Amino acid sequence: MSFESKRVLVTGSSRGIGFAIAQELLNRGAYVAVNGRSAATVQAAYLALGEHERVIKVIGDVGSAAGCEDLVAQAVQALGGLDILVNAAGVDYSTAIEDTTEELWDLTLDINLKGVFFCCRAALSALKESGGNIVNIASDAGLQGERLMPAYCASKAGVINMGRALALDLAPRVRVNSVCPGYVDTDMVRRDFIEKADNPAATEQALKDRAPLQRIAAPSEIAKAVAYLASDDAKNITGIALAIDGGTTAG
Ligand SMILES: NC(=O)c1ccc[n+]([C@@H]2O[C@H](COP(=O)([O-])OP(=O)(O)OC[C@H]3O[C@@H](n4cnc5c(N)ncnc54)[C@H](O)[C@@H]3O)[C@@H](O)[C@H]2O)c1
Repeated sequence: MSFESKRVLVTGSSRGIGFAIAQELLNRGAYVAVNGRSAATVQAAYLALGEHERVIKVIGDVGSAAGCEDLVAQAVQALGGLDILVNAAGVDYSTAIEDTTEELWDLTLDINLKGVFFCCRAALSALKESGGNIVNIASDAGLQGERLMPAYCASKAGVINMGRALALDLAPRVRVNSVCPGYVDTDMVRRDFIEKADNPAATEQALKDRAPLQRIAAPSEIAKAVAYLASDDAKNITGIALAIDGGTTAG
């Protein structure tokens, strides 16, 4: 899978899964726009990518339509067009129904669902021109319910079905796919699940045991699947939600 001369924007790529995707596609020859909300986090990612000449820095927040339009415009202008949009920016808040305030609901849905839609919308003319494609990072929590994550589950299920709808609307010129990771070893999981626990080691083991394959994935594993879906090898694939969850949603 070569991405030579491909122009890529990965939202939320200052760390975690988004960073791994940026790294994977950069290693395969792409020009990559790396996005985060602050100059400091984007600069840190740029340094971690070896200050590569094919990396473009894009500071912007996907939490509003205007923010999406601005950051996509920055990327399209700097890259001279766009072949691949990967929507990886996301937040997770684990709350009981009673503790899920309107503010928390809006924050989760604005970043995880509205942000994906408006980045897709903003990138549309550039992707139509290039015959490009979109990969959205959803979650196994979009394929099945999870305890204590009502807003997150709603946002990720929305991403999956919105992706199918966009796949229909944008075919045959632009493909749209989702990937649905189970637990992945990033800040999101370490900070919000493992380090918060009374017994972090036991919690980490419990997260592993949740999947039939009894593992937490590395970000690079998700990045390789994204690379496949974004590549020409996947030219007959659109509208899918690919679970990379160690069998968690198998039944
Ligand atoms: N880690 C997991 O186990 C897991 C599992 C399934 C799905 N996911 C999804 O994968 C994606 C990446 O998660 P991660 O684990 O790398 O998380 P992370 O917290 O390590 O990184 C999230 C990234 O999104 C960025 N981001 C957050 N809000 C943003 C905003 N408003 N605008 C722009 N960027 C923003 C952050 O700056 C960061 O770069 C998310 O959509 C998440 O829901 C993660």
